[in-house]
Amino acid sequence: MVELKFVSIQEAMNNSKNKKKVAVRGWVYRERGSNTMKFIILRDGSNIIQCVLEKKKFEKQWGEIDKVKIESSLEIFGEIKKDKRALTGYEISVDKINIVQIAENFPINKDLNEELLGDRRHLWLRSRKMIASMKIRSTIFFALHEYMHKKGFTEIQAPSLSGATSEGGSETFEVKYFGRKAYLTQSWQFYAENFINAVEKVYAIAPSFRAEKSRTPWHVTEFWHFEVEGAWMDLEEDMAVAEECIAYTIKKVLEENKLELEVLEADVFKLKKVKIPFKRITYNEAVKTLIKKGHKIKYGDNFKSTEERGLAKYYGDEFVFVTNYPLSLLKFYHGEDPKNLGTGTNFNLLAPDIGEMVDGSQREPDLNKIIKRLKKEEMDLGVSDWYLDSRRYGSVPHAGFGLGVERLAAWICGFDTIKDSIPFPRTPTRLNP
Ligand code: 4AD
Ligand code: MG
Repeated sequence: MVELKFVSIQEAMNNSKNKKKVAVRGWVYRERGSNTMKFIILRDGSNIIQCVLEKKKFEKQWGEIDKVKIESSLEIFGEIKKDKRALTGYEISVDKINIVQIAENFPINKDLNEELLGDRRHLWLRSRKMIASMKIRSTIFFALHEYMHKKGFTEIQAPSLSGATSEGGSETFEVKYFGRKAYLTQSWQFYAENFINAVEKVYAIAPSFRAEKSRTPWHVTEFWHFEVEGAWMDLEEDMAVAEECIAYTIKKVLEENKLELEVLEADVFKLKKVKIPFKRITYNEAVKTLIKKGHKIKYGDNFKSTEERGLAKYYGDEFVFVTNYPLSLLKFYHGEDPKNLGTGTNFNLLAPDIGEMVDGSQREPDLNKIIKRLKKEEMDLGVSDWYLDSRRYGSVPHAGFGLGVERLAAWICGFDTIKDSIPFPRTPTRLNP
């Protein structure tokens, strides 16, 4: 036989003229056999395909072929043809097989609970669901980078280790640092707000860490944070960047991940329906709506997660921006709306089924106002006082936001937890593998 070049399973199917000879390699996804035949569903990074081996062609090798179990690694050479009965519509009639390794009993089956699957996460990543999820995740990262570059933003990196925290005390991981204390970053914002005075429009996608005990489906202790900051940007421009990059990303996934969306049985209609601009309501209107719908809430309360999810439902089961939260709920860096004193130039973007997906604001540019707010909150920036240099040396109006990449990914895939959207989720009880 002429030596064939290996192709991916998907390529083999895309270019299949009937009875074309192909060479593919991968892992056994399923197998079953009889005395005369063996059916192997082979999986690689691209797709799966049914392979049929007839005993009469492999008399000498049959003993070995018979031992091939799930996740064994193989090289397969044969003839590809369309077959409606096969899982992905094609079948390879095998002429030659190289068994690369016969796998031990694979310790994953459909009866495992979440805990056991978590212990074997490195193996569970081979499931079709996780492969599809990781590919969509990759498209999302790519789309966010592409969109930001197109819009003239510069990617910058900030350290993950810092001498102080930015978002708040109790949710910070403390680590030993040569006899001192250091903290794992919760947000790059303090760095970004200084960096905008250098290159104006910046963004990053990096891990953020939260020592959050809350075990909801939408929290992990290490998540990937897409953060944006722009000099001269106001609240409306900030929201426009947020909604545009989400719409851009969803469109890209629809174009690039048809197969993966199909494997996940994702709601493609829901994705196609996403239209910008998203609805914009104020915190005040949101509270009124919640009260009308029977929620026990009053002006000044923080939304519970059920209320956030409820709001997206009540406003057409679509993304909805909520702006102008009372200052009492906001941090010292959020600006105050001059047209609506006592409320912030801030927003949360709420997504159906998930709740908060993006958190952003036009920042307070005035040093004295910030100092007053810090005093009122009996707060002292301590070693982070350098942050305020952005207000001391050429302060400008500016805005930014942070988006949890796993929340966006889980929403796109229709998962009921963000743990399905990150390869190795970290939670209060899960640090391994
Ligand atoms: O709302 P957060 O805490 O806002 C900030 O950190 C700002 N400094 C961002 C900024 O303006 N640059 O976090 C932003 C987003 C949330 O809306 C949520 O999507 C996500 O990060 N997030 C989490 N995702 C997964 N697990 C967690 N524990 C998360 N905490 C926040
Ligand atoms: Mg928030």
